[in-house]
Amino acid sequence: MRLRNKVALVTGAGAGIGREIAILFARNGAKVIIIDIDNENGLQVCNLIKQEGGHSVFYPGDVTDSNSIRNIVNSILENNSSIDILVNNAGIKSLGNIEQLSEEKWDRVLDVNLKSVFLLCKHIVPVMRRNRSGSIINISSVDGLTGKANIPAYNAAKGGVITLTKNLAVDYGKYNIRTNCICPGFIYTPMISKEFEKYSKTFNKEAMDYIFKRIEEEIPLKRLGSAVEIAKSVLFFASDDSSYCNGSILVVDGGKMCGEVSMLERSVRDYFVNKGI
Ligand SMILES: NC(=O)c1ccc[n+]([C@@H]2O[C@H](COP(=O)([O-])OP(=O)(O)OC[C@H]3O[C@@H](n4cnc5c(N)ncnc54)[C@H](O)[C@@H]3O)[C@@H](O)[C@H]2O)c1
Repeated sequence: MRLRNKVALVTGAGAGIGREIAILFARNGAKVIIIDIDNENGLQVCNLIKQEGGHSVFYPGDVTDSNSIRNIVNSILENNSSIDILVNNAGIKSLGNIEQLSEEKWDRVLDVNLKSVFLLCKHIVPVMRRNRSGSIINISSVDGLTGKANIPAYNAAKGGVITLTKNLAVDYGKYNIRTNCICPGFIYTPMISKEFEKYSKTFNKEAMDYIFKRIEEEIPLKRLGSAVEIAKSVLFFASDDSSYCNGSILVVDGGKMCGEVSMLERSVRDYFVNKGI
């Protein structure tokens, strides 16, 4: 019960990583406020937490809508004296290089992944400052550290989340508000399964199995991560266990970002495979 009596707000908690964060937080004693654009999923997670005996409230809402966020925060404060933990988790991805990506899609990806962090913090930091206490956890991505082909808006937004985390850490550390960031690697969630589904329309099962296995081989731990494993890292930052972490950027990717050391080995192997040796 590492979050006993804490009020925690998790965005995008209707599915994937956010869902597991909400459930784990509730199991650790937090009252969990869920915001999600998906009514059905958000309500389902809220009800699940209640069925387990936990506390949860669901607000349907779009994290890019400033008025909606303001109203939600005001409503939370009618029943609670603090918001102790904020997890900025909601995110979307849009595939296509700069030429293929429309301006509308660029704006939407930047708004959902990055502007939302600004909006949520803008409305909640004053509450945390008054209470001289708070923990903000931003969910970025390894793609915000490395840059990756075909997702320019996502790269830019997630990179922005990392530097915004550091800014918040510097500006608000003196009020005992800690801001930290997690960069997940390849985590099997609805976001990723939708990408797989798209390819499975073109490729048969044998090809899909090969692709999946190849991805796993690229990761030093030889498997994709789970949403629960990310949730456990978020719990660390949310709790007093990380009391001296502020502005920390934690990569949780099974070692993938260290994987480039094996580039030579991989190239040699690929050469022999291509030559049929
Ligand atoms: N899955 C991965 O491999 C991976 C890797 C790195 C980073 N991330 C990041 O982790 C976070 C969660 O990803 P996920 O894989 O669980 O995604 P997901 O698509 O499975 O779930 C995202 C949730 O956010 C909600 N959401 C989307 N737009 C919203 C909006 N405008 N307002 C409110 N809610 C909204 C969705 O309805 C959904 O419930 C994202 O920020 C994502 O970029 C995921």
